[in-house]
Amino acid sequence: MADSRDEPLVLGIETSCDETGVGVVRGTTLLADAVASSVDEHARFGGVVPEVASRAHLEAMVPTIDRALKEAGVSARDLDGIAVTAGPGLAGALLVGVSAAKAYAYALGKPLYGVNHLASHICVDQLEHGPLPEPTMALLVSGGHSSLLLSTDITSDVRPMGATIDDAAGEAFDKIARVLNLGFPGGPVIDRYAREGDPNAIAFPRGLTGPRDPAYDFSFSGLKTAVARWIEARRAAGEEVPVRDVSASFQEAVVDVLTRKAVRACKDQGVDHLMIGGGVAANSRLRALAQERCEAAGIRLRVPRPKLCTDNGAMVAALGAEMVARDRAASDWDLSADSSLPVTEPHVPGQGHTRSHHGHDHIHEVSKENLYS
Ligand code: KG4
Ligand code: ZN
Repeated sequence: MADSRDEPLVLGIETSCDETGVGVVRGTTLLADAVASSVDEHARFGGVVPEVASRAHLEAMVPTIDRALKEAGVSARDLDGIAVTAGPGLAGALLVGVSAAKAYAYALGKPLYGVNHLASHICVDQLEHGPLPEPTMALLVSGGHSSLLLSTDITSDVRPMGATIDDAAGEAFDKIARVLNLGFPGGPVIDRYAREGDPNAIAFPRGLTGPRDPAYDFSFSGLKTAVARWIEARRAAGEEVPVRDVSASFQEAVVDVLTRKAVRACKDQGVDHLMIGGGVAANSRLRALAQERCEAAGIRLRVPRPKLCTDNGAMVAALGAEMVARDRAASDWDLSADSSLPVTEPHVPGQGHTRSHHGHDHIHEVSKENLYS
């Protein structure tokens, strides 16, 4: 390894959705975070089109890797490993990242780490607030997932406490934005309108908060329908839709439930650190309300800066660096993309190789200098 054992230099590649992200991390220090997004190409469809995303990843991959290495001021030869999102996500999109990571790792003679996108969303907080406390409760809220996860070691132990039974939180933001004709993605724009609206203007339902409901599961489909009906009724009556108040009231219903359940899970489990990750963690009201409720409950809150909450390569590099630091087994060369990789598998270990063994074997195998120059 080029650097001391506890400060591995790792490049991470993320292509699970519409962001081509490449990050470079040394231990828990962020060196580069390059992102090329195809979001504009999907906007007119109101959602991510998988084939369009895959093609965009393919085009952006090499330039984004070059940009990240340049930004980090390191050479690919100095890397201690290459990490890539192996899943969950869009199969074709993941495949582009996994293929690129394999090609680079093989050519450079570096160990390859196929890692879990969801665990990466949690691990990225190490770049902002240092090593994750063990245990940490994580509220993971993105366009595809809404879960409460308990982790005692982000490289090996991620336990699901609860999850959405229907829509993801981000999906609800995107759908309501579409009903309001605010464009895609919906989260950031609803966040902006909500700042000028009244969160108590309309009493929208809080899903799964009854006494007999599962304590840690979420449901946003009923809320989504209630908001859509409310808007339709206004339109049918020929009345103007108060976009700011609808945005604020809808957003409040989402973040109220998310923070209430997350704090409750921490209290019940005796966990005093809560981290919030995923695209929806960029939401300003979620951040503020979580802070308020955590303070009241004596829980320490950790939320990465918004740019690290939405999909990026640095989060993948952060988890890869942790895999190297903890000597986790590298992935095999036949690593494949797994669109439904379970959250309980932080990475895809190879068969019986340790990281160093794997790396060395490989260097002997391909010992042609500088396949990559
Ligand atoms: O984590 P992410 O970038 O991609 C997935 O893995 O899904 O999350 C994207 C989601 C989208 O649904 C987007 O609307 C939502 O995160 N989002 C937000 C905000 N910024 C992004 N939701 C609420 N408020 C925001 N400020
Ligand atoms: Zn994500």
